Amino acid sequence: MTAAVPASPPRGAELVIEGLSVAITRPSGNVPVLEDVRLHVPSAQTAALVGASGAGKSMTAYAVLRLFPVDARITAGRILLDGQDLVPMPERELAKIRGRRVAMIFQEPGSALDPVMSIGDQVMEGIVAHLGRRGARERAADALARVGLDRDLLRRYPHELSGGQRQRVLIAAAIAPGPSLLIADEPTAALDVTVQAQILDLLGRLQRDLGMSLLLITHDLGIVAQMADLVHVMRGGRIVESADTRRLFAAPQHPYTRSLVEGAQRLGFWPA
Ligand SMILES: Nc1ncnc2c1ncn2[C@@H]1O[C@H](COP(=O)(O)OP(=O)(O)OP(=O)(O)O)[C@@H](O)[C@H]1O
Ligand SMILES: [Mg+2]
Repeated sequence: MTAAVPASPPRGAELVIEGLSVAITRPSGNVPVLEDVRLHVPSAQTAALVGASGAGKSMTAYAVLRLFPVDARITAGRILLDGQDLVPMPERELAKIRGRRVAMIFQEPGSALDPVMSIGDQVMEGIVAHLGRRGARERAADALARVGLDRDLLRRYPHELSGGQRQRVLIAAAIAPGPSLLIADEPTAALDVTVQAQILDLLGRLQRDLGMSLLLITHDLGIVAQMADLVHVMRGGRIVESADTRRLFAAPQHPYTRSLVEGAQRLGFWPA
């Protein structure tokens, strides 16, 4: 008997960051921006990274894929993807992981899509780079369907889309090559509230359906309560507290976390 074996979703990658320090290179010397950062994204779960503006959340995300927008470098620490350290990895090796095993949705939504490239070409870019041209258009259409967009959009251009549709396209492009870890840096910050809720629902659903691990960067504890299994709280380039989401809300330890949680609870947020 040859019963069809259901395709099991790929196991989400585990990300462990240990003792990570990053410095921005200046003519006057190195300026530290991250110090001794420890962070964990368990396989197929959602971890949130929260903290105020300038805390170092984006820098942490950039460090994982070594995509710093400024002249910065890792001065200490390990970044383990399923146990493999990315820090000493040569650029050529890391390039194979970027976008393939680890995808990222960047914080600046305006600059993320190229205005003169069709949606199809942009969603296909990662597919073609990592998996080849064959079947790329079908795979791109499948990715669009997963984010609730019609395949007709393949022929369109970014200016023809709403902000919410553009964010869905970015998510489609990120998931199309089949990453096992998705890093989403403030994925809803530029959207209005109703669209925000839809995009968060979508990200949560994709994380579960595809069995991905998700590192969700936000300054919004309401989003954390809704989405995250565990939380890392960042302040001044350091992690000041890490906890299971329920534990963090029920018994925040660090004074900064306490103030964040109290603020969120005044707005009625509590983990589901
Ligand atoms: N382009 C840059 N030039 C110089 N310094 C920078 C730059 N980007 C970040 N930094 C430094 O790195 C620190 C951390 O910035 P980062 O962008 O990671 O913060 P963030 O937590 O993502 O903030 P936000 O919530 O505003 O996105 C900043 O406080 C700043 O000192
Ligand atoms: Mg940021």
